[in-house]
Amino acid sequence: MSTEIESVLIENRVFPPFPNLVKGAAISGMDAYQTMCEDARKNPDAFWEKLAREHLVWDKPFTQIVDDGKAPFYRWFGDGELNVSANCLDKHLGTPTANKTAIIFEADDGKVTQITYKELHARVCQFANGIKALGYKAGERAIIYMPMSIEAVVAMQACARLGIIHSVVFGGFSSKSLHERTVDVGATLVITADEQMRGGRSIPLKSAVDESLEMGGCEGVRHVIVYRRTGGQVQWRDGRDLWMHDVCGNQADTCEPEQLNAEHPLFILYTSGSTGKPKGVQHACAGFLLWALLTVKWTFDAKDSDVFWCTADVGWVTGHTYVTYGPLAAGLTQVVFEGVPTYPDVGRFWDMIQRHKVSIFYTAPTAIRSLTKAAEATPERHPREYDLTSLRIIGSVGEPINPEAWMWYYTNVGGERCPVLDTWWQTETGAHMITPLPGVTPLKPGSCTLPLPGIEAAIVDEAGDEVERGKGGFLVMKRPWPGMIRTIWGDPDRFKKSYFPPELKGYYLAGDGAQRDSDGYFWIMGRIDDVLNVSGHRLGTMEVESALVAHDLVAEAAVVGRPDATTGEAIVAFVVLNRNLPDDSEAETIAKTLRDWVGKEIGPIAKPKDIRFGENLPKTRSGKIMRRLLRVVAKGEPVTQDTSTLENPAILDQLSKAR
Ligand code: WTA
Repeated sequence: MSTEIESVLIENRVFPPFPNLVKGAAISGMDAYQTMCEDARKNPDAFWEKLAREHLVWDKPFTQIVDDGKAPFYRWFGDGELNVSANCLDKHLGTPTANKTAIIFEADDGKVTQITYKELHARVCQFANGIKALGYKAGERAIIYMPMSIEAVVAMQACARLGIIHSVVFGGFSSKSLHERTVDVGATLVITADEQMRGGRSIPLKSAVDESLEMGGCEGVRHVIVYRRTGGQVQWRDGRDLWMHDVCGNQADTCEPEQLNAEHPLFILYTSGSTGKPKGVQHACAGFLLWALLTVKWTFDAKDSDVFWCTADVGWVTGHTYVTYGPLAAGLTQVVFEGVPTYPDVGRFWDMIQRHKVSIFYTAPTAIRSLTKAAEATPERHPREYDLTSLRIIGSVGEPINPEAWMWYYTNVGGERCPVLDTWWQTETGAHMITPLPGVTPLKPGSCTLPLPGIEAAIVDEAGDEVERGKGGFLVMKRPWPGMIRTIWGDPDRFKKSYFPPELKGYYLAGDGAQRDSDGYFWIMGRIDDVLNVSGHRLGTMEVESALVAHDLVAEAAVVGRPDATTGEAIVAFVVLNRNLPDDSEAETIAKTLRDWVGKEIGPIAKPKDIRFGENLPKTRSGKIMRRLLRVVAKGEPVTQDTSTLENPAILDQLSKAR
């Protein structure tokens, strides 16, 4: 494990909670919060048991709380049975929520479609019946590769209803990445769309599925179900390919939900780790849903009258927890958006908040930073030009939010009336872990503040001992929680090694470096492993390196992150070619070729911003690439570290000057 943790500026500004939000909040006041934390610490079983009984609808009530017999493979509520889709939809039938709008869908072109809970339930049932009629059964895996749409939510919910384990692949991933995931998860069903629309352009999806299935190894896939989004041209394989509307056809609009064990896998979502191969993070039905629902209620303090908008794509965990599952389980009205924040203009988000009277808005620092720049360049699209008074809570997720971006968001979007909730969590944690609460927590720009009740976060050293306040270390969770990752699909050893290293006393290792200030507030300092965070998207340096070396021109590649004012981190690749060093104009052409190649291998989000060519890479005498030094070079800073262990110190100079 590396201990190289960059220090952050600790902010002094403090913003106390707004009295109007403290009153009537789900968790109201610091005393109430501390009492909950204390209760959870004293008797975790009783704490979680009460919540699981109160907030979930069980078909068969559980008698066991947490089973740590095979730790770290924890089981939660392991003898209970329920259905997640029934908890998100059926639960509301026969209540006033049934006729409430569940989703306000806004397409890329601005067309708005609304659907009530009752209608959504019917759509999910029809699709589930259609999938069942094709012979699919609980436990099979379905790949979902779809644009943001009501249909994507329907597809995920229909799988949950049948106990089919979904694995959503972000629509921006290439056919190669899609293939890798389809094979790893052993999918038998793929659900996709003909094309997706983003910023006025159509991007094919079905053809990427066709390509991925031709790469071999996915012979288990029996059907490809296609949602017709644009009507664009698609190739068709009879017998395998089916339109979603035909699958739904005349199916009944009720469908008995499968009664599933609490630990039945709900989904597998791939994310990056420190090796080249993405990890299939597996979540369980009951624990995940409980944590998703509780955090919607606690963190966002969601009320029946709220209009909730999480801008994340369902291809990421944020879209699972805070689009498909949490808000529906809470019976909220939510906005689902197909497009991009800059189309048709940079005021799109603000315009949508105004039109749909959004009251809880949740987005990523990257979006905030790029919209800050855009608003300054285009004053008529500045958020102050819109009526954003419907907002009461604004949130941030996915990467550290720097104090300047925080202040801009707080002032210009929140109108100094809304708390900025900087929520720290991960694909593996299922839902929020360390976050301010609107009715409790004084805010400090740049800090994700304090752990939620029931979560025992700490900062430890290499031996698992807690470090002093103000000192950096590894962020860990000392106790299990219901929403936690259950395993890595098909690789239990990697699960244990990545998250529960033996030297850390059985604590969950998050993979982030952090420190606590004198108030106990957490400040996240970034990853301690080779994981990059580009625009809030997790990418492994090794994934990008393997993609680069797969190109004929490339002999060797090393990839590092560099701080970037907009995307948080930017990818810098140092490349040794299979030929002599290119001159400037050749270098430009080759860099473009390689960038496009990485875009095809992984997806456009993985394209290196900067590619530099050298005759070699800085290596130790034992042949290890010194990424630490490359990070310094990537930032354009002089190398002041000791380079005496380097085999070829002169290479640093060459790479610093290289373009
Ligand atoms: C980073 C996204 C600082 C962190 C929900 C974590 C954050 C990784 C924050 C998980 C935050 C997420 N402040 N860093 N508020 N939220 N991160 O799995 O490095 O895509 O380990 O989950 O993003 O990314 P993932």
